[in-house]
Amino acid sequence: AFDLDTPDGIGAQLDRDRPEVVVHAAAWTDVDGCALDPALAMRRNATATEVLAEACAARRADLLIVSTNEVFDGSRTDGRPYEPTDTPCPGNPYGASKAEGERLATVAFAQRPGASLGIARTAWLFGAPGRDFPSRILDAAERARAAGEPLRAVGDEWGTPTYAADAAEAIVELLAADAIAGIHHVVNGLFATRADWAREVVTRAGLEVEVVNVPSSTWQRPSHPPRWGVLAQTPLPSGEPLRAWPDAMADYAPRLLRAAGIRT
Ligand SMILES: NC(=O)c1ccc[n+]([C@@H]2O[C@H](COP(=O)([O-])OP(=O)(O)OC[C@H]3O[C@@H](n4cnc5c(N)ncnc54)[C@H](OP(=O)(O)O)[C@@H]3O)[C@@H](O)[C@H]2O)c1
Repeated sequence: AFDLDTPDGIGAQLDRDRPEVVVHAAAWTDVDGCALDPALAMRRNATATEVLAEACAARRADLLIVSTNEVFDGSRTDGRPYEPTDTPCPGNPYGASKAEGERLATVAFAQRPGASLGIARTAWLFGAPGRDFPSRILDAAERARAAGEPLRAVGDEWGTPTYAADAAEAIVELLAADAIAGIHHVVNGLFATRADWAREVVTRAGLEVEVVNVPSSTWQRPSHPPRWGVLAQTPLPSGEPLRAWPDAMADYAPRLLRAAGIRT
């Protein structure tokens, strides 16, 4: 296994396994933890990625790293989604550590040409049921209903809910077409606020709970997420972008509701 805290053994592992391509999805994703210990975030999300990238580049193994919309601070106000050509400008330590991982991997591959580096940025992943946003919203909605209160959800933070299964399929498509090189924005279509997303979940569950928009400042957190975290979808080899997020939610909903013990 590749341990982000002790990445140096990766060369020996690559020599043993001799992969043609490595997909690096592991990360320290606790954004508040990263905000409280930015140096550790850098070690786990940037240094470990650099060590892996140098080891892959030296062995001419392709590398696809999974990254995040949080490489952008979300302060843009022109309503346009972030493109792969936009320069990363992270607004929190998690985003900074992921952006630095992207940069260091790019340097490693530039220094040793011969293999391909891909960066697949995604955002607001959901599925499988358990700890994802829809599961947490269902729990919160049940509590709100029991208390006879509305459910408060953030209405001033925008992003694109993205079905992990769709993102995984897109990555497989890039690998199968030998088209990983470059930066890919692997997100479902359209965008939403957290409150829009919560409303979709509550409606699909048939729960009689009102969802009210509140500002993100309602909850003080160590990490500040991007206000406008919308990525422009990049084309896949099939030519088709990923479907719109509500269609993906429709696919996921039966699994989500079954796991939550909700009959529809
Ligand atoms: N979730 C999102 O909304 C989102 C959005 C944009 C980008 N991403 C990116 O997508 C990727 C996957 O994220 P996720 O949400 O699936 O994260 P996750 O549920 O927190 O899973 C992270 C993975 O990294 C592994 N990991 C954590 N610390 C490690 C360490 N010290 N050494 C080795 N492995 C370690 C975990 O292994 P264990 O299971 O063994 O702990 C787990 O498999 C990450 O690169 C993340 O930055 C996620």
